[in-house]
Amino acid sequence: MAGVTDVSFRRLLKRCGGVGLTVSEFISVEGLTRSNPKSKRQMRFYEEERPFAAQIFGGQTERMRMAAEMAEEVGADILDINCGCPAPKVVKHGGGSGLLKDHERLETILKEIKKSITIPLTIKIRAGFYDHTINAVETARLAEACGVEHIALHGRTKEQGYRGLANWDLVKQIKEVVKVPVSGSGDVTTIEGAFARFRETGCDGILIGRGAMANPWIFRQIEDVSQGREPFQPSLADKRGILLEYFDMLREDMPETPAINRMKQLAGQFTRGLQGGALFRTSVYHSHSVEEILSRIEEYFSAIESGQPYYGEAGAQVDEAPVLDSCEAAA
Ligand SMILES: Cc1cc2nc3c(=O)[nH]c(=O)nc-3n(C[C@H](O)[C@H](O)[C@H](O)COP(=O)(O)O)c2cc1C
Repeated sequence: MAGVTDVSFRRLLKRCGGVGLTVSEFISVEGLTRSNPKSKRQMRFYEEERPFAAQIFGGQTERMRMAAEMAEEVGADILDINCGCPAPKVVKHGGGSGLLKDHERLETILKEIKKSITIPLTIKIRAGFYDHTINAVETARLAEACGVEHIALHGRTKEQGYRGLANWDLVKQIKEVVKVPVSGSGDVTTIEGAFARFRETGCDGILIGRGAMANPWIFRQIEDVSQGREPFQPSLADKRGILLEYFDMLREDMPETPAINRMKQLAGQFTRGLQGGALFRTSVYHSHSVEEILSRIEEYFSAIESGQPYYGEAGAQVDEAPVLDSCEAAA
């Protein structure tokens, strides 16, 4: 997820357990092939993240090929092509979900990349571009014919954006017509939801996005149940620990101000559903320094661990950082 799954977030989740594959944020091939520092940063990963897929987006064949080669060179295990991003500035240049309505261009890009890299090539698609042009099955067939080795479907159209629910029946339909593994994406936020999607569609894998922002242990819990164990239940100490660990990683990876901003965006997600969580998020949102954020975390967890109600700052109204809910902001 753009703006979310940077190295710190991915390492954090990997440490929580149960993660099969980590995937980068989508990386602009225009930026990457012109040595844009942001794009180069997005391509970084740690050994502990493997298997790691680098996801790229763009609409120009030559740039896509060059970026794919760069991903292989830096040691990514898999190269994934984004055919799902609905952001206008991505689609305008033929990239992201724009490739769903230009199969000719998609075919050229996939064939060219396939010739240039030796690591597996995978693809992430949407149901279709418009609600009346659903073509996920055709896109999947085309991708397989071009040598793509795994297909992931987010079952919403580009027109739909993030509204409504993902159509998992399309995952089933794709699974029935291609031989390569197929994964589904969209709205999995619980253990039960994950198993239901596996059962209903026969899919090989499940991608969890927003659900992992709210519950970083969701992969571990699913793994626990699939291996016959009781699902891991994080304690308050685990939740406090994960916040502190995440903040440490962010500060190790970036300057103080962006680290604080990212903490404001995501830290609160981990406390959804806890007593006083909304007030805690408000107090983090209004913090301006590392020390302030650390104090807020201590105050909050000390209060709820000792069973006391948490009132936040005196007279505080709930006022949180907006939740990242699409790739558009980060595009
Ligand atoms: C903030 C945000 C950023 C996203 N960025 C990407 C991206 O860079 N690449 C991608 O393939 N999908 C991206 N997505 C889509 C998700 O991978 C996923 O398909 C979608 O959110 C539905 O799954 P979920 O309900 O588990 O979040 C993004 C979604 C969100 C919310």
